[in-house]
Amino acid sequence: MNELEKRLSVFPTEEQIPAEMRIAEMLDQREYLVNGELKTWAGDMQEVFSPVRINNNGTYTKKRLGSFPVLGEKESFEALAAAQAAYNLGRGAWPTMPVKKRIEHMLRFTKMMKEKRNDVVKLLMWEIGKSYKDSEKEFDRTIEYIFDTIDALKNLDRDSSRLQLKSEIYAQIRRGPLGVTVCMGPYNYPLNETFALLIPALIMGNVVIFKPAKHGVLLIHPLLNAFKDCFPKGVINVIYGSGKDTIAKLMESGKVDVFSFIGSSKIANILKKSHPRPNRLRSVMGLEAKNPAIVLPNADLDLAVNECILGSLSFNGQRCTALKIIFVHENIAAEFNKRYIQKLEALKMGSPWMDGVMITALPEADKPKYITELIEDAKSHGAQVINKDGGTVIESFVYPAVLYPVNKNMRVYHEEQFGPVVPICTFKDIEEPIQYMVDSNFGQQVSIFGTDPEQLAHLIDPLVNQVCRVNLNSQCQRGPDMYPFNGRKDSAEGTLSVADALRVFSIRTMVAFKDNELNKKVLSEIFEERKSNFLSTDYLL
Ligand code: G3H
Repeated sequence: MNELEKRLSVFPTEEQIPAEMRIAEMLDQREYLVNGELKTWAGDMQEVFSPVRINNNGTYTKKRLGSFPVLGEKESFEALAAAQAAYNLGRGAWPTMPVKKRIEHMLRFTKMMKEKRNDVVKLLMWEIGKSYKDSEKEFDRTIEYIFDTIDALKNLDRDSSRLQLKSEIYAQIRRGPLGVTVCMGPYNYPLNETFALLIPALIMGNVVIFKPAKHGVLLIHPLLNAFKDCFPKGVINVIYGSGKDTIAKLMESGKVDVFSFIGSSKIANILKKSHPRPNRLRSVMGLEAKNPAIVLPNADLDLAVNECILGSLSFNGQRCTALKIIFVHENIAAEFNKRYIQKLEALKMGSPWMDGVMITALPEADKPKYITELIEDAKSHGAQVINKDGGTVIESFVYPAVLYPVNKNMRVYHEEQFGPVVPICTFKDIEEPIQYMVDSNFGQQVSIFGTDPEQLAHLIDPLVNQVCRVNLNSQCQRGPDMYPFNGRKDSAEGTLSVADALRVFSIRTMVAFKDNELNKKVLSEIFEERKSNFLSTDYLL
């Protein structure tokens, strides 16, 4: 253990783990959920270790959290068959169920989910190293997302609960489900972002095959019973294993109707392309981003530095919305860098349960090596690590590195680092960062820091057509979840928000009839005697 390791002391000894943060026992989970049944797996298991190492007198040991099943093609097709049976070509109980009843199922699920808060939050913290406070936030934000989704669906249903009349044709237009839906979320928000796909998909009447992210898998286990008990069999199926042996096979079968995915475009594209009937596949995706911050010469520097610290280093920079490159006007770069480093050095680093901790260990085993490569590459092209200890690797922990000055010959200028390395470039002419965005393969968000209304207005108009969210004097972020979350170019496909998600997981479908005596008589009977779930003017309270 060197001096820096002693000073930082990022990993606890076993005794230093607070009692309330411990996980009672290792979770060797053999269950998976298919056709409303928790099946027991007897095959290969994937071991799960925490990114948080245990310090034993200066040597570090991995903390084993448990294991989960590595299912294969056979079990994936069992899940597909169960989902198809539940959907029954759109004739199943779930896709034809009145919205009110589907909401009742979802409310029951949410009640059971809330009872598991403590287990899920602790697993989230241990599995991906997210701070305890942010893990709590992720859980609570997900519950709020479900309630907001229910409210949005009620509004949608109320708007659809009447007939329209145009050119002597009556119509009742509603949104109907699409079918068998695959949901795959990312490891950095393994609960929230996955559920932001899963919940709207389910509540719109689709049937789901859900495969958890590569990290943050065990935390789904406490919810399996709630899924089993609250939804009809086959409506939600939870499988585990490599994407290649599970979801890829399902996609190749052509029997997946909706592919919803948040993660890397490399995986997304392989899976999407393996579907033999692309015209029948609906895709909803959140992919990579390289959101820039542009700090103008007249910016409020303290505010800009605070937002850039949050934007670039919250959860170690492992957010798709993170600020992944900072352009600072050359006149203020020296001062910006000085203040940025001061703030960085004051950040709390270490165990995820520490009060106010921001920098923690990284869950991806190869990430420290990748970050080191980016730093070495940038150095070889003229950048320096300008903060003390920047880039120091201690097992799974990387001390954030600030690279300056960064230029287009460096990998970190182009690649999405998704980790604690902060590239800073200078600009003289505002066209330089604008051109960066025009040339970029990504188009999610940008943050602009400045105080001149004229100049800001002048920038807003071209930039809203490069990205989908221009943040003024504020870091980039997804929330609030009522706002659209999307991107241009390789950053996304489709728009997610509480209300938009209900749309992307459904299609408008209608019943139309000419205004004649026969139809009036027949339709009146259907409405009055409530013979149809679809054709109904009942107002959802
Ligand atoms: O990883 C991407 C997340 O959607 C970011 O969400 O901006 O709320 O952290 P956030």
